[in-house]
Amino acid sequence: MMDLWKSAAALGLVAIVGTTLLTGVDALTAERIAAQERRVMLEQLGQIIPEHYDNAILEDRIAFTDETHFPKGQQVTAYRARQQGAPVAVVLKFSAVNGYNGDIDLLAGINADGSLRGVRVTAHKETPGLGDAIEAGKSGWINDFAGKSLSNPETPGWAVRRDGGEFDQFTGATITPRAVVEAVRLALTYFSKHRAFLFDTVADPAGSSAP
Ligand SMILES: Cc1cc2nc3c(=O)[nH]c(=O)nc-3n(C[C@H](O)[C@H](O)[C@H](O)COP(=O)(O)O)c2cc1C
Repeated sequence: MMDLWKSAAALGLVAIVGTTLLTGVDALTAERIAAQERRVMLEQLGQIIPEHYDNAILEDRIAFTDETHFPKGQQVTAYRARQQGAPVAVVLKFSAVNGYNGDIDLLAGINADGSLRGVRVTAHKETPGLGDAIEAGKSGWINDFAGKSLSNPETPGWAVRRDGGEFDQFTGATITPRAVVEAVRLALTYFSKHRAFLFDTVADPAGSSAP
């Protein structure tokens, strides 16, 4: 009988030690993943807002939805860059929903004056060799957005050439660039209507699922 109790106690101890170890490893892994996500996000943000800001941009963020400009119920995150409190730029994280193979995740850096600092694709499922020229590493196409605004070009120009606009399409692949151009135009339109909301809303890092 005594032996039975001893075995049961030993088994219990092993279970407790095992669970504690696993929980610890889990927490460490989660921390590492979060740190890695922050690094990637900062690196991506750095590509479109290389100039100076002095706030903690990853924490200075809000999340919101707006079906008119960011369809399909997507959550948009706005990261605000400020210098001594003054708005420098906002980076919107959102998706173009009319890609050939689903959503195209984008970051658009918009200066306080409404002009684009730059756009980057962070994730997509477009076809390699056709739609993937939207990636900065695959072609220079995405760089054409820098410096553009709602008045440069005027509205008809905010389309691919096939549709009478100023943006190149790719050979045999018009759907992908068309989706990105339209999504960026809508993001700029949102910015022009909601600039004060974007810069003045109190940061809510906990309310956003983004890193
Ligand atoms: C297997 C396959 C994959 C394709 N992938 C893409 C894509 O990723 N992006 C895209 O714009 N078009 C893609 N297309 C082409 C589109 O179906 C469509 O023909 C094209 O976007 C229209 O552009 P065009 O008017 O310049 O031909 C793909 C077509 C096929 C058959």
